[in-house]
Amino acid sequence: MSRPLLEVRNLKIDFETHDAVVDAVHALDFTLERGEALGIVGESGSGKSQTVLGLIGLLAPNAKISGTATLTGSGKQGDIELLSAKPRILRKVRGARIAMIFQDPMTALNPHLKISTQMIEVLRAHRGMGRREAMQAAIDMLEAVRIPEAARRIKYYPHQFSGGMRQRVMIAMALSCEPEILIADEPTTALDVTVQAEILDLIDELRARTHTALILITHDLGVIAGQCSRALVMRRGDLVEHGPIEQIFRAPEAQYTRDLLAAIPRLEG
Ligand SMILES: Nc1ncnc2c1ncn2[C@@H]1O[C@H](COP(=O)(O)OP(=O)(O)O)[C@@H](O)[C@H]1O
Ligand SMILES: [Mg+2]
Repeated sequence: MSRPLLEVRNLKIDFETHDAVVDAVHALDFTLERGEALGIVGESGSGKSQTVLGLIGLLAPNAKISGTATLTGSGKQGDIELLSAKPRILRKVRGARIAMIFQDPMTALNPHLKISTQMIEVLRAHRGMGRREAMQAAIDMLEAVRIPEAARRIKYYPHQFSGGMRQRVMIAMALSCEPEILIADEPTTALDVTVQAEILDLIDELRARTHTALILITHDLGVIAGQCSRALVMRRGDLVEHGPIEQIFRAPEAQYTRDLLAAIPRLEG
C-alpha cells in the first residue's frame, strides 16, 4: 500500500498563559490519504482549529507543539516534516500544497484590494503565470465556484459580495494553487442554511474533480455525513472516536459521539 499523503503522530499542543498551561491537543494520531475527505468534529474548544493551524505553522506565539506531521513528497520533492520545518518552507507549503479556508472569509481577504488583484497575485506567485493568463485563470475559477458574471465581478472589492459569495471567492482562491490538501475550518457556520448546503456541495464537487484531499472541520456531525468518508471526533483535546463515517453513525463507541449525533438539527417532515 502506498503511504498516506499526511501522517500525524503524537501531536501535542499546549499554550502557556500567564496563570496556567492550557493543554489544547493531547497525543493525536491520524492520517490523510490522497484525495480523501476527512472530517474533524467536536464541540467548540475541543482543539480542532489548533490542530490544523499547528500543522501549517500558524499557531499563536504562546503555543508549544510536539510530535510529527509528515507530508509525503511529490515528484522530485522529498517528505516534509511540517512541525520542524523552517518558516520559509512552511510558507511555500501553505501557498502551494496546503490551502485553508476559514469561517470568516474577511480574515483572509484584503478589504482594500479588488478580488482580481488578490487572485492574480496568488496565481503569479505560485503558478508562475503572466498577468493576462492569471486574469483568465482567475475568471475561470470564479465561474467554477458559480459566481455569476465573473468577468465583471472579479473587479469588485470583498465588501461588494454577500457572505456566501465571499466564501465562494475564498474557495476559488484556495483552489487556484491546485493544493493537495484543502483545510476548511467551519466554512459554512456563518452562512444561512440554504447557502451552507450550496457551499458544501460546491466543495464536494470541486474536490472530486481536482482529487484534492479535504479536512473539513465542524461542530455539526450532520455536515460531515454528506461530505466525508472518515471522521475524527475530538473532545477537549482528545480523540474519542475515529473511523468510517457509516460506522460512526451506525455504532458510535463514545457517549460523546452519541450526544453529538443527538444534537444534529433535523429537518421537519
Ligand atoms: N493563544 C492561545 N492561548 C491559550 N489558549 C488558547 C490559545 N488558542 C487557543 N487556545 C485554547 O485551545 C483550546 C482549543 O481551541 P480550538 O482548537 O480553537 O477549539 P475548536 O475546537 O473550537 O476549534 C481552547 O480551549 C482554546 O481556548
Ligand atoms: Mg475552531
